[in-house]
Amino acid sequence: MVGKVLDKDFLWGFATASHSYQIEGAPEEDGRGPSIWDKFCKIPGKIAGASSGDVACDTYHRTGEDIALLKETGAKAYRFSISWSRVIPLGGRNDPINQAGLDFYVKFVDDLLAEGIIPMVTLFHWDLPNELDERYGGLLNKEEFVADYANYARVLFKAMPKVKHWITFNEPWCDGVYPWDPNDPLDVEAAERKLEFSISWFADPIYLGDYPASMRKQLGSRLPTFSSEDLALVKGSNDFYGMNHYTANYIKHKTTPADPNDFLGNLETLFESKSGDNIGPETQSFWLRPNPPAFRDLLLWISKRYGYPTVFCTENGTSLKGENDLPREQILDDEFRAEYFRGYIHALAEAVEQGAKIQGYMAWSLMDNFEWAEGYETRFGVTYVDYEGGQKRWLKKSAGVVGVEFKKYIKDE
Ligand code: NOJ
Repeated sequence: MVGKVLDKDFLWGFATASHSYQIEGAPEEDGRGPSIWDKFCKIPGKIAGASSGDVACDTYHRTGEDIALLKETGAKAYRFSISWSRVIPLGGRNDPINQAGLDFYVKFVDDLLAEGIIPMVTLFHWDLPNELDERYGGLLNKEEFVADYANYARVLFKAMPKVKHWITFNEPWCDGVYPWDPNDPLDVEAAERKLEFSISWFADPIYLGDYPASMRKQLGSRLPTFSSEDLALVKGSNDFYGMNHYTANYIKHKTTPADPNDFLGNLETLFESKSGDNIGPETQSFWLRPNPPAFRDLLLWISKRYGYPTVFCTENGTSLKGENDLPREQILDDEFRAEYFRGYIHALAEAVEQGAKIQGYMAWSLMDNFEWAEGYETRFGVTYVDYEGGQKRWLKKSAGVVGVEFKKYIKDE
């Protein structure tokens, strides 16, 4: 049994992101410019139900309702992202700032703090200003993108000194892994390699100063080397490890020779193991199978590899197979999601008991929202949003479970 292993200032709460595209709506109000997602959604066939984030949860007009939901759940923190093109409509360092857009977020942060909720802000949650994509290819143009991103970040840091938790880029990677056959050394090695190709790709340079050796071996000269100037900027540049986590996979060594152009080389990712065990039950998302022990094990893997850094779980949650087709009363009684959170929060506490330094956890998501290419057909919220019924929000059973579970593990609670 795990006792009260979490510090009394442990931050738990909920996440939405992109504030702008997944929940916010109002793409053309008060001077906001278009993002690449406004454009992408207009391409026929890209989004389920031909939907878009044009209205989403209408949060732009309902921040008060969202904060009331957070209060009702007892959340201590809220993670949301900022729409870059609402703040700088054209995105670039020489482009004008949209004061109305900036004010919207400054006020939102003030409103959260006034209710005792700590804001955790993501600068970039995929919704790049469309102009930057057209002007120079967006993230593919290192020099231009870095300069524009740095300027955007500075604008926000200056306007919101009350925000103490900033997240630079959402979700470089999030999957946990197990070897397909734990008795086959090749599968065991492949599982380790999979983590290096996902987690370490981003985290090794920051904590250890270079890409992992397994990536260098597979990718050769296609993997950039760090100049000493780059390294001085990158190594040791973060305050905490932000981890999104949802699912796990079995990893199998491929016996076919590695294709040098195949990024992952001799790796295969599967949900079902050699013995026929599923990694976890099906959900509405083809890529998501709950497996709480994999969360604990990944937290411990990260902790050991990087010398027990401070970790925040910045997203964790599940969809539920067929949820969108159920009547509202059944959607609200989301025992599957409640059980998911019980399992994952217990796994987090186990990781802390075994030495991991985890200081926060944000459940995904505060409310149902625009699930990218899956549109509104997949729901991840602890709040049901009635998109057709005046955007009314209804807390689901799982909304209360997160707080109840954390009470079991937080000291003095
Ligand atoms: C991670 C992403 O950050 C978020 O935007 C998305 O909705 C969830 N995964 C669920 O797929």
